[in-house]
Amino acid sequence: MRETEILIVLVLVVGVLATTSFPANVTYDHRALVIDGQRKLLISGSIHYPRSTPDMWPDLIQKSKDGGLDVIETYVFWNLHEPARNQYDFEGRNDLVKFVKLVAEAGLYVHLRIGPYVCAEWNYGGFPLWLHFVSGIKFRTDNEPFKAEMKRFTAKIVDMMKQENLYASQGGPIILSQIENEYGNIDSAYGPAGKTYIKWAATMATSLDTGVPWVMCQQADAPDPLINTCNGFYCDQFTPNSDKKPKMWTENWTGWFLAFGGAVPYRPVEDIAFAVARFFQRGGTFQNYYMYHGGTNFDRTSGGPFISTSYDYDAPIDEYGLLRQPKWGHLKDVHKAIKLCEEAMLATDPTITSLGSNLEAGVYKTGSGLCSAFLANFGTQSDATVNFSGNSYRLPAWSVSILPDCKNVVLNTAKINSMTTIPRFSTLSLKDGISSEAFPDDWSWVNEPVGISSNSAFNKLGLLEQINTTADISDYLWYSLSTDITGDEPFLQGGSQTVLHVESLGHAIYGFINGKLAGSGKGSYNNPKVTIEVPVTLIPGKNRIDLLSLTVGLQNYGAFYDLSGAGITGPVQLKGSKNNSTIDLSSKQWTYQVGLKGEALGLPKGSSSLWLSQSNLPKQQPLIWYKAWARVKHG
Ligand code: GAL
Repeated sequence: MRETEILIVLVLVVGVLATTSFPANVTYDHRALVIDGQRKLLISGSIHYPRSTPDMWPDLIQKSKDGGLDVIETYVFWNLHEPARNQYDFEGRNDLVKFVKLVAEAGLYVHLRIGPYVCAEWNYGGFPLWLHFVSGIKFRTDNEPFKAEMKRFTAKIVDMMKQENLYASQGGPIILSQIENEYGNIDSAYGPAGKTYIKWAATMATSLDTGVPWVMCQQADAPDPLINTCNGFYCDQFTPNSDKKPKMWTENWTGWFLAFGGAVPYRPVEDIAFAVARFFQRGGTFQNYYMYHGGTNFDRTSGGPFISTSYDYDAPIDEYGLLRQPKWGHLKDVHKAIKLCEEAMLATDPTITSLGSNLEAGVYKTGSGLCSAFLANFGTQSDATVNFSGNSYRLPAWSVSILPDCKNVVLNTAKINSMTTIPRFSTLSLKDGISSEAFPDDWSWVNEPVGISSNSAFNKLGLLEQINTTADISDYLWYSLSTDITGDEPFLQGGSQTVLHVESLGHAIYGFINGKLAGSGKGSYNNPKVTIEVPVTLIPGKNRIDLLSLTVGLQNYGAFYDLSGAGITGPVQLKGSKNNSTIDLSSKQWTYQVGLKGEALGLPKGSSSLWLSQSNLPKQQPLIWYKAWARVKHG
């Protein structure tokens, strides 16, 4: 009886501690972020809330905490939250407040990278498409309509966070915020207006009065008081633009993103661990893994062109929320080793000395007798033995040893003690008890007509750029034309084969003649443009040319990326294979249809009565929607 009472009292105390919070004052000095007067050594990791489901969030956050993270970083995705101007969505996967609160409940801090340009392999870099149609707008430069919209959205997010008391200054978890993103990589293309824009962005952000510092990443001229931070695979050589600002690393790429058709990226954990230890050896105090959990690009959120739906990123937590070992475990060990050095590291600056060719010591030593050291071999070819403080240490190539007491090595970044797991994927049949040979029986289908099927189709002279035409409400745009063939056309003469030639800015094309597929082509991540040149058979009289143009994720990076365009901008020609005769159809009157019929009907989710199921799937039909249900096995 007494034992039960004691237990209840303890549970209550824990409950109170978990929910009580005190406003914290967050500032910085040349060594670190300073929270309530204390410098902090912070390990952070990126988890983008809409790249997983809300029921995954608590587990992802807990695994991050178990891995030794202090901070969770996320971007804020404008086009998710404001799909139409002044219409907001913060539900489900978009529930930013819930995500931030869950991080707080786990006792971790938040770095909120508002952007609102985010890059992130996210459709259109996070900008809503309607922004492109605001009169007189020019993105990411000193342009009044753009600045007004950017300020409105940034203020909206800041106000939301304030209303929920989520800034550290209010007792919440947010200790840091970011404005813009890597503008310094491309600002020269914007000329002097780029410089004034960055000054404006810094002033605008500061005026929002969050009570916590703002950063700009990859922005060497970030105006005070904003901190310029480093992004990259290695940031040990980075120095901030003022000796009053701390050395911070906002993106340590744990792998890379996957583009359709590209190799699946892989970054060895030994290399990440080396890069992290080098950063802390040389004075860093804040480091963020981009990504710690990459996740999935759901719906049409993938950036582009050709960013895959998986955003796994070879991150320490894989796309499905499982620990990737030994990556997660080894980095956890690295964090522990670095934290053993925390007191000395935060008390003083490192003294960097050479121990020989490609060999370097970084020593944090205080007058009061604290001493922690990092010994690095940044040679890639050979191991080395170094003498340090009267002892000798063996350093494998491309590795750092961590000595929290300047004597005993607790970890070398190239030596992994964490377990390795090799995931095995098993093929499941779609229904329990049905073998995978029966797989096709589980599919149902709906036919998609070739060419124009909607009465909202419209005619226009000439070829239209796609994104301006669809406003990205669909990936698909039909270009359709009926052309008369008399048989006397020069390109048909002399036994010539007729060839259809189509040029597009991207990203893929299907060409149909009289309802039959004639050919297709696609671009790639590095070259989105596509040209098809295919033999076709024309008949005397009317011939219908239907060109289906597809976008595969809108571009998210680069100067003026928002204007790169897509779709069939021409020329579109019929040519003779044996003679040089060509007719150009580019400036004819084309009929346009935005989107597919199936999309208008709400497929694949909606209109269940349209779905046909039969054991023989249709053949000889160019465009079909297919649907199947997969059974997910838990445990
Ligand atoms: C950075 C950018 C991130 C992401 C990353 C590549 O340059 O800031 O948003 O795009 O590259 O994954």
